[in-house]
Amino acid sequence: MTTEPSRLEVRSLTKSFYGVPAIDSVDFDLRGGEIHGLLGENGAGKSTLCSVLSGLYRPDTGTVSIDGSPVQFRSPHDAAQHGIGMVYQHFRLVDSFTVAQNIVLGLRRGTRPKSIRQAESMVGDLADEYGLHVDPTARIWQLSVGEQQRVEILKQLFRGAQILILDEPTAVLAPQETDRLFEAVSTMVGKGHSVVLVSHKMAETMQYTDRLTVLQRGRNAGTADTANSTPADVAKMMFGDSRAADRREVTTAADVGETVLSLSDVCVTGDSGLAAVTDASFEVRRGQVVGVAGVAGNGQRELQEAIAGLRPIASGSLEVAGTDCTKTGPKGSAKAGLAFVPEDRLGVGLAPGLPLEHNMALKNHDRSPHSRFGVLSSSAIAKTTKRLVEAFDVRGNRRGMRVSLMSGGNLQKAILARELTEGHDVLLAAAPTRGLDMAAAEAVRAHIVDERAAGRGVLVFSEDLDEIIHMSDVVLVMFKGQIVGSFTRESLDVDAVGLLMTGSDPTVVSPSGSSIEIDLTEAPDETLDVATISTAEEATA
Ligand SMILES: Nc1ncnc2c1ncn2[C@@H]1O[C@H](COP(=O)(O)OP(=O)(O)O)[C@@H](O)[C@H]1O
Ligand SMILES: [Mg+2]
Repeated sequence: MTTEPSRLEVRSLTKSFYGVPAIDSVDFDLRGGEIHGLLGENGAGKSTLCSVLSGLYRPDTGTVSIDGSPVQFRSPHDAAQHGIGMVYQHFRLVDSFTVAQNIVLGLRRGTRPKSIRQAESMVGDLADEYGLHVDPTARIWQLSVGEQQRVEILKQLFRGAQILILDEPTAVLAPQETDRLFEAVSTMVGKGHSVVLVSHKMAETMQYTDRLTVLQRGRNAGTADTANSTPADVAKMMFGDSRAADRREVTTAADVGETVLSLSDVCVTGDSGLAAVTDASFEVRRGQVVGVAGVAGNGQRELQEAIAGLRPIASGSLEVAGTDCTKTGPKGSAKAGLAFVPEDRLGVGLAPGLPLEHNMALKNHDRSPHSRFGVLSSSAIAKTTKRLVEAFDVRGNRRGMRVSLMSGGNLQKAILARELTEGHDVLLAAAPTRGLDMAAAEAVRAHIVDERAAGRGVLVFSEDLDEIIHMSDVVLVMFKGQIVGSFTRESLDVDAVGLLMTGSDPTVVSPSGSSIEIDLTEAPDETLDVATISTAEEATA
């Protein structure tokens, strides 16, 4: 490659969805030939920024220039013509086609190889050149995730991409595959490409990038030379400083009482058959909110499902209010005293096609007063619904209307209403305020805090660190399937939590030394041993 590497300038780029900005007046520069890390919590706007740069979305306002010339993309094809190629988080390959077929798919006449044989040999050469090894004649369904990703990268290189945007490429990779990916990335840079690397993992960003930019809530929170930054600086940019700690919930907890949820060495297998949760041990007591912080995809969903009995516990044990619920399934946990407000509200929490009344009675439709001798009593169900709707201020429902038409905030309140009026001892709430507007979020948080005041235990998972800190008496941090940190209100160190969330070891960088109560003896194991996890049968949910 003889030309100068391409550079990119982004000025005050804004893109909103339904009136809410996903990115807000973002400035961003990619220098020619650099690897530029793009970091930020989930929902910070990373993918949106990349999708604008790759022509998938059109910005509301702002400008993008390549090598000093303003560009406007009407489509990803258009962006590709300008030398920008993106590898999306979710691959876009045709499973039944071969590697070479996928790579030439969509190419226009003239740029397309003359035959599939020629395509295969060109793809093979390109793969060798960049160290992205994959068999051009293999079908996509035969490939590992890492190989599929290589196909996506090759597809962009084949189209002449000078600027490569990789959206969380390592999220789906095993550690060895990650190393190989970064070898290929450094080959790309050596050959004159410029790379945007989206990530929320601290270690790889610090190790492989030249510069980094942090997005926080859609805004650029800062750009820095990687070599001049510490993980603590970057975590601060990602998660904010200790603002959240200042406005913490001041209501004093009811007296902390007996244990109502107890996990001991719980291991859970994920959908891919790999370990999703390893040796999780902790407890929740009456009068206590335990919050689990972590970036999504670190085993939280699997752990929630295991606690709710929706996913088998591969090893270890679970007790709900003194009853062993390791193997009892969802009915067992509920009966023992667990209320569950799931993350996937429509999928797990509700029957979307049914009206609210039926959903409110979903868990106790087979009991009096809702049914007698196997016959549903619609008047009793309507009465229960009316009571719950009033108590939890659920709006926008009309009698008989299916719940999938209700707004997120009202659905969430409806689920809370149903779960919290059962006689339970412990509430498990997953991402309870995600997608809610501020008023609805506040209302939901207030209900959760009320639970504690009423002497029940609460286990809450959220990606919103502020929210976790705001509500919790004990903060746990989850990373790569393990509980990597545990803090009480007194020992809480927001910076350390941020570091742990991104896989860094705060004891290494914390200037204040080791006064923090963190158990690092269970530091994340890079190579989870699949063989040690029994192949539990899949969840029946
Ligand atoms: N297609 C879309 N429709 C509506 N909202 C969206 C869409 N894509 C992203 N968002 C919202 O924009 C915000 C930023 O999302 P995203 O760019 O995916 O963040 P990140 O990649 O940093 O996790 C989030 O609040 C998300 O819900
Ligand atoms: Mg994203």
